[in-house]
Amino acid sequence: MNTNFLNANHKEFSYPAALQSLKALFTYERNPIANLANFSAFVHDTFGYHWTGFYLVNKKELILGPFQGPIACTRIGYGKGVCGTAWAENSTKYVPNVHEFPGHIACSEYSNSELVIPINVDGKTIGVLDIDSDQFDDFSAERIAFLEEACSVLTEHTDWAALP
Ligand code: SME
Repeated sequence: MNTNFLNANHKEFSYPAALQSLKALFTYERNPIANLANFSAFVHDTFGYHWTGFYLVNKKELILGPFQGPIACTRIGYGKGVCGTAWAENSTKYVPNVHEFPGHIACSEYSNSELVIPINVDGKTIGVLDIDSDQFDDFSAERIAFLEEACSVLTEHTDWAALP
């Protein structure tokens, strides 16, 4: 498969082209685990973050799903940390300095800024995309808008009923 991904530092990188590549990646695959895994790799490799992955809703907690990067915490309670807060509030949470976020769950000492985007399917939050950067304030408004759009592409191109 020619996924044709470009690192964000490449001179020919553009957000519209990256969205097209993402759509191409999901053209022949609708399995949730496969798409969550490749989505993580796509974001992680394109932008060079410290940790990129998913936590999936399981009853009253989030459980670690497909990800790229170092070993991470496996369970996060509703309303806990940045991930649990984004889930409870059902809104994107951007934290430019995680050390100033009350209740931040430090899975890695290298994380300095964090973005969490809820994944909504048919009006229900089924999980969150969590991204950690080792840089402070590493997510521009343009980058956040792109990642939210990318999450919409993911939800539209995946059969969520197949989620275990
Ligand atoms: N920092 C997150 C926990 C998950 S790890 O970053 C992978 C939080 O506060 O929810």
